[in-house]
Amino acid sequence: MDRPLRVLIVEDSEEDCLLLNDVLARGGYGVTYRRVETAEGVKAALAEGNWDIVISDHRMPQFNSLAALKLCKELASNLPFIVVSGSIGEELAVSAMKAGAHDYIMKDNLARLVPAVTRELREAESRRQRQSAEQALEQWRRRTESILDAAGEGICGLDAQGVINFINPRGAKLVGWEAGELIGKPLHETLHHSREDRTPFLKQDCSLCASLRDGLAHWMDDEVFWRKDGKAVPVEYTCMPIQKDNNIAGAVLTFQDITERKEADNALRESNRRLERSLTELHQTQQQIAEQERLHALGRMAGGVARDFNGTLSKILGFTELILTSPEKLGSPEAVRDHLRMISAAAREGSQVVHRLYEFHRPRRDTEQFKIVDLNTIIERSLLLAEPKWRQEGQTRDTPIEVRREMQPKVLVFADEAELQEVVTNLLSNAVEAMARGGILTVRTSQDENRATLEISDTGEGMTEEVRHRCFEPFFTTKGDCGTGLGLASAYGIIQRHRGEIQVRSEVGKGSTFAIQLPICSGQQKQSSHQGTLAAPKDHPLRVLVVEDEPMVREMEVEYLISDGHVVETAGDGSEGLRKFRASKFDLLLIDRAMPEINGDQLTETIKKINPDMPVILVTGFTERPGNGHGPHRANLILSKPFCHATLRKAVGQVMAAI
Ligand SMILES: Nc1ncnc2c1ncn2[C@@H]1O[C@H](COP(=O)(O)OP(=O)(O)OP(=O)(O)O)[C@@H](O)[C@H]1O
Ligand SMILES: [Mg+2]
Repeated sequence: MDRPLRVLIVEDSEEDCLLLNDVLARGGYGVTYRRVETAEGVKAALAEGNWDIVISDHRMPQFNSLAALKLCKELASNLPFIVVSGSIGEELAVSAMKAGAHDYIMKDNLARLVPAVTRELREAESRRQRQSAEQALEQWRRRTESILDAAGEGICGLDAQGVINFINPRGAKLVGWEAGELIGKPLHETLHHSREDRTPFLKQDCSLCASLRDGLAHWMDDEVFWRKDGKAVPVEYTCMPIQKDNNIAGAVLTFQDITERKEADNALRESNRRLERSLTELHQTQQQIAEQERLHALGRMAGGVARDFNGTLSKILGFTELILTSPEKLGSPEAVRDHLRMISAAAREGSQVVHRLYEFHRPRRDTEQFKIVDLNTIIERSLLLAEPKWRQEGQTRDTPIEVRREMQPKVLVFADEAELQEVVTNLLSNAVEAMARGGILTVRTSQDENRATLEISDTGEGMTEEVRHRCFEPFFTTKGDCGTGLGLASAYGIIQRHRGEIQVRSEVGKGSTFAIQLPICSGQQKQSSHQGTLAAPKDHPLRVLVVEDEPMVREMEVEYLISDGHVVETAGDGSEGLRKFRASKFDLLLIDRAMPEINGDQLTETIKKINPDMPVILVTGFTERPGNGHGPHRANLILSKPFCHATLRKAVGQVMAAI
């Protein structure tokens, strides 16, 4: 199959042109040609392009091969150009070849034409390929150069000896040199010769040089490069070795100036140090404030205790003095009874203060007897007791209080009923006292799978931030002589012992909400509580032995017991008590704990050894809370002084019901 060939023939003779065409066709080319014979013709043909070769006659009437060659070199430099002439002399042929013609052939030797065309086509093709490869290479070189120029960090090429063979403009600028000046210089000796403190940096310690020895990448961020002007620049650098045929051919170093980062690091470190110092000072100040707060609170509490007891003692002393110093009063049993009633009331008040204060601090004991309590019942009972009072007050003031109930049915907790009742009563009275001009009292109960919640809200005067902050503090009150400031303190203590929480939300002029959360009653607790429910006390006279060294207290206990219909014997100390116990038969012993010689614990222990079933109530000061006796004495119940008639009656009933 013929190879297509597009030939531009510069020739004045059509005949010669056909001859050339014929020779080429015979040589295996499918020829497409155009014949031109002037400079304009050549220009127009070249402008159309797409020629594979130019074959030119040497001499034409208006033109010649050298002029045609010149045009071709200008307009299509890669195009093969062959001169075919019948008369070209050697001299002209040489000058045509010098001017860039690729061959010249005599018309009488056209056998050379086809091989010459084939050869020139091949060479033109290889010239084309080389040119496009060179163009691609040049393009790539320019692109790489612009990337390196634009890079934000210094990039430097090293040969195997650590001599700089390339550095980008950014790198040169960072070290204050012209890029050209650095080429050929050893990097370590030029930029890296000393450490920051200006001591010499030995080559064997240099990580850059190490890369060229060990073939590993090295990274550093605490060294400096030395600028041309003698200043040090802190740098971070990475040196990557270049491997070639299993040898280290050099390395690429990338580096950047980290002056700003170092300054920021130092500033950060300094501000951290300052922050640490401030935190330590803050901590110390907080401790001092906490200590001062604690001392203030203690001082306020001591003041409260002193104020309350002063009040109580003044009343007791005053009325006692009145009786003792006014003979006419002693003569009047009515007046004496009257004063004694006052003294008793004052003492009760004092005892109440002690009880509430004690509730605030008393820790929970493992022996504490809790049972299942429905919060709704407690609230209803407290409302029942308190409501008539405030209804009456409200009516006289014409400022009614509306009670709203938002209660979930049966909210069961495991608790001491009397204590919870005391808490709710305290909260209710505070709420009512805060609504002097009437308002809405809302009681809420609810529960989820872990906790029961009780809330008491009022629309009263609310609390300032300071009052809200201090309201649980013992003796803190804003009610002057009308309040002891112990209601919330004892409520707080009681809720703590129930492993619960009490919180307050309040806003001045809008009202307050006290919220109590308690652990709900587990199934197991429900069972054990059911089994432990106390039986009703037995209701018959008992033979009781009272062992008490203080005559007045003994007399009071005897009076209480006798007025309940019991038969009582007394002993003034432990020995007498033991003697009487051995000599007679008793249903119950009431023993004072703090007695000289044989004390209450020892006596109880001896008695329990003789008769382990003998019921004993041990009477004590308030370091112990009333409850079942444990420890060496094994008393059935411990009763704290001072106690009233009802408390003793309840204790007796409880002990006798339990046996
Ligand atoms: N619901 C409430 N609304 C506004 N202030 C309250 C409320 N409850 C308590 N407070 C504030 O908290 C203080 C302390 O209350 P707390 O019950 O401990 O003592 P008190 O009511 O002053 O006296 P006490 O209860 O001993 O008679 C009150 O004096 C009052 O200022
Ligand atoms: Mg109160």
